[in-house]
Amino acid sequence: MKQILMEPKVVKNSKVLSKEEKETVKEKTLSNLPGVGPATVEKLETVGYNDLMSVAVATPGEIIDATGMSQAAAKKLIATARSSLDMGFESGEDVLKKREQVIRLSIGSKSFDDLLAGGFESAAITECFGEFGSGKTQIGHILAVNCQKQYPGSTVVYIDTENTFRPERIEQLAKGANLEPSEVLKNIKVAKAFNSDHQMLLAEKIEDLIKKQGLDVKLVIVDSLTAHFRAEYIGRGTLAERQQKINRHMRDLAKTAHMHNLCVYVTNQVMARPDMFFGDPTQAIGGHIVGHASTFRLYLRKGKKGSRVAKLIDSPNLPEGECSFYVESSGLKDI
Ligand code: GTP
Ligand code: MG
Repeated sequence: MKQILMEPKVVKNSKVLSKEEKETVKEKTLSNLPGVGPATVEKLETVGYNDLMSVAVATPGEIIDATGMSQAAAKKLIATARSSLDMGFESGEDVLKKREQVIRLSIGSKSFDDLLAGGFESAAITECFGEFGSGKTQIGHILAVNCQKQYPGSTVVYIDTENTFRPERIEQLAKGANLEPSEVLKNIKVAKAFNSDHQMLLAEKIEDLIKKQGLDVKLVIVDSLTAHFRAEYIGRGTLAERQQKINRHMRDLAKTAHMHNLCVYVTNQVMARPDMFFGDPTQAIGGHIVGHASTFRLYLRKGKKGSRVAKLIDSPNLPEGECSFYVESSGLKDI
């Protein structure tokens, strides 16, 4: 009885599979789904449907857009992908074991780390939103350096959409952390995203850095997550498409975070809400899509005497709370 609890068996057609059979189930890919030809697989892959899971969770409309297949064929494809994934449940015990692998990147301020129960979590997306100058980009730079301090030789991926990555600032922070600036810079892979499609493509390419180049990516930064989308999709009529794309982008980031147990940090702007008379009249861009796709949400604002305040407003397991700090040349400093 205990044995079964410890090691959940893969069950198919109410038969317990042998080890070899388990392997073949695991290896099931898009290309050996019944009725899916190489041309369809290629079309699916070029738009980011690389595995069964991505097809299983897609809508028929998305599949039709990607492949041009008929509604009936798209529905059948999704159903087939779903039925070959019917062993997706794991025991709470297994989930707990995975949780023990989660790492936390320190931001270097005790009160900020405490707010996040130790730091920025892996296998999760942490979002900071706030007005201009609230410190979102600075936090990205500081995390990139601290990641090197905590995991020497690991890689940081920095997707820069606003042209605000500054190697000089990294050098300064590295010196503050007693690290060799050139080593730190070498381990940060920066890519400038010219538009939202480019940004999405870069996020997909992180898999290649890990799988093909064998890099130990521990942190992915997207600064800013929403700026390109906001600039490109203007007007109410384009809102649905924008939200769909942001959703897919964040799903990609979340998948990479989970599969490789790495931290994802994204920044987001705010817009004024003229209809708000009470409370804070600012609202994060991207609405519910970004809010739900982020595991941890922090609201950054300017505090008294040049300080910054971070407020944890959404988290699956931590209480809401606030902390204050200063952004200094060597990093964050507690008040
Ligand atoms: P937007 O991208 O414009 O929305 O703003 P942001 O939230 O990314 O702001 P950012 O992180 O760029 O914060 C800018 C603030 O950080 C500045 O107003 C400075 O107070 C502080 N800052 C930026 N660079 C340095 C630096 O080199 N040393 C110190 N001590 N502070 C800095
Ligand atoms: Mg910025």
